[in-house]
Amino acid sequence: MPKLENPSVEPPVYQRLIRPLLFRCDPEWTHDRSIAVAELFGRVPGATTVLRRLVRSQQPCLRTTVAGIEFENPVGLAAGYDKSGRAISALSGLGFGHIEIGSISASPSAGNPRPRLWRLPRDEALCVHYGLPNQGAQRIAVRLQGQSFAVPVGINLVNTNFGPDAVPSSADQIIDDYVRSASLLSPFAAYLMLNLSCPNTADGRDFFGDTDSLNRLLERISALPIAVPLFLKIAPETNDASIDRILAICDSFDRVGGFMFNLSPVRRDGLSTPPAEWQDYPGAISGVPTRHWMDQRIANLYRQMDKTRYRIIAAGGVCSGADAYQKIRSGASLVQLFTALIYRGPRVVQRINRELAALLAQDGYRTVSEAVGTSVSFET
Ligand SMILES: Cc1cc2nc3c(=O)[nH]c(=O)nc-3n(C[C@H](O)[C@H](O)[C@H](O)COP(=O)(O)O)c2cc1C
Repeated sequence: MPKLENPSVEPPVYQRLIRPLLFRCDPEWTHDRSIAVAELFGRVPGATTVLRRLVRSQQPCLRTTVAGIEFENPVGLAAGYDKSGRAISALSGLGFGHIEIGSISASPSAGNPRPRLWRLPRDEALCVHYGLPNQGAQRIAVRLQGQSFAVPVGINLVNTNFGPDAVPSSADQIIDDYVRSASLLSPFAAYLMLNLSCPNTADGRDFFGDTDSLNRLLERISALPIAVPLFLKIAPETNDASIDRILAICDSFDRVGGFMFNLSPVRRDGLSTPPAEWQDYPGAISGVPTRHWMDQRIANLYRQMDKTRYRIIAAGGVCSGADAYQKIRSGASLVQLFTALIYRGPRVVQRINRELAALLAQDGYRTVSEAVGTSVSFET
């Protein structure tokens, strides 16, 4: 992996001054306040435009087109940060090439009982057990009505989590839930991400392990008058044989543009934080500890899929231009981040784009798409 000759050193104002203050507060409280502040900022006329002018990356090599959508740069905000689409304007001001909101379900959901978010600073990781709280598709559709945004907005859809004591939904109810959300929200989306693999709910983990359910869901969604591409967020534990089955099903649905891996509900290897500090937390680990095995999963999927048809969006521990570049060389056409925003602060997006452009130039690639999959070996 080539190294940047002069990696930029970010003045660590966020890490030194702001982060220690934020980390004194409860993680979920801090997350909620950051969304509230961003929502307010987004309402100040012209504020987002000015911010975006200051930080946006307009380097031609970063421009890319994926599933027919044009992106100014390949670095997006991952789902889960702005669950109900309240702060899209301000977040796009940070220099992201796209914003994915959600996960959004047909009915509003309070998610899992609190506490449900923890920081693991030694690993630059989070442990998340949110369980998909969101305001529901109807209310979010009303919010998005008439708004326009500086970057493409992906909308991540999921089955409603009615809570741990609810009667489990039937297969038809689960599929209806996605279909209702897709009908309500697709007019506002550049793409829909079908979250088929929430690590924090029982339905999310198991239902789409049965490929017949996936087939039925795609049939129903394809029958809707929807003009945007679909991406599927699948479980990272999905083995090669199951991936082959998923690919075979998707081959019959032109609207499917690609895939992404979700967090793992089970993997906790490679953590430096002592087990005593995290073993009682339910939930999934995000951030740096997921980086390398996620890259491996991406490379595997890239090997298996029809590269003329499908594209991969990748997340998992992206903190630097080198991390983004590695995911691209492993087969991703776009990358996303969440946890780096918490640990590295809002300027991380600008820095990743700057470093990524330098790495592409150093290796002689004129565009992001030229670099996609270049580290993947196809020998058997
Ligand atoms: C606090 C938190 C909440 C998340 N919520 C969602 C969600 O609602 N839907 C979803 O598809 N992914 C969700 N994710 C997963 C992220 O979209 C992303 O795939 C993952 O965190 C890996 O990226 P990262 O290492 O940069 O955080 C969440 C992640 C975190 C940390």
